[in-house]
Amino acid sequence: MQILDGNIVSQHLRKQIQEEVAQRKAHGKKIPHLAAILVGSDGASMTYVAAKEKDCHEVGFHSTVLRFDASIAEEALIEEVEKINNNAKIDGLIVQLPLPKHINEKRITETISWKKDVDGFHPMNVGLMFKGLPCFLPATPFGIIKLLEHYHIDTTGMHCVVIGRSDIVGKPMSALMLQKNCTVTVCHSKTKDLASFTRNADIVIAALGKPEFLTGDTIKAGAIVVDVGITRVADATKKSGFALKGDAHYESCAAKASWITPVPGGVGPMTRIALLLNTLHAVKS
Ligand code: GUN
Repeated sequence: MQILDGNIVSQHLRKQIQEEVAQRKAHGKKIPHLAAILVGSDGASMTYVAAKEKDCHEVGFHSTVLRFDASIAEEALIEEVEKINNNAKIDGLIVQLPLPKHINEKRITETISWKKDVDGFHPMNVGLMFKGLPCFLPATPFGIIKLLEHYHIDTTGMHCVVIGRSDIVGKPMSALMLQKNCTVTVCHSKTKDLASFTRNADIVIAALGKPEFLTGDTIKAGAIVVDVGITRVADATKKSGFALKGDAHYESCAAKASWITPVPGGVGPMTRIALLLNTLHAVKS
């Protein structure tokens, strides 16, 4: 079994981005600038936005975080998004989700200019992605593709089973694996006898958000396991009081797989780097 190491690969890509930014600086070209809108004070969202800011600074990007009270009106938020759409200094914009209940997320997502939509959530980017045309890919599926490419894993002809059908991971992942010449099956919470699918998969991409759901007895010997899940599970042996668990039961899957992503240190760092790759793409397009 070999590890698909997201820490190593993201570090390698981070260096490449840093070098490209330095080159742009040396040639007087525009430095990529990512803006993030954060509404309210949800703990996880604040952590994610802080991580995105840190990532930008590490590679030399400019970053701006616009913080608004959870009570902001939908119209006022639309105006803020439009201001950024029209601000030539900013190349990429993310609106951190979830938004407060009184705000229509779909409307906000669709207001972001698709040319600055580095999350790849705008229907224009979704359509371009499904057609295999240049676009912003959602960060997690994009990061997974970069990880597989780094290890020269040729997925042509493989049966890929994606577990989960979210707009952010499962659906785009299935389209991208199809473009990578896989035969793709998408399983979800209503799938009957899910193990009958995963046992026949050459590659399983688990993105359902249920810790240790995929076990060694439900995968084929030599399968590739990509674990998107990351859930805090109470663990009295840890100082923090919790352990981070993926959607795959690591020990039993690792014993049978040819390749596997660890949690943490697999898909997570690749998701973070993918947003930077999209922001770099934004400044160039
Ligand atoms: N909330 C959880 N994941 C994401 C993401 O990838 N982008 C944004 N904007 N919000 C999120």
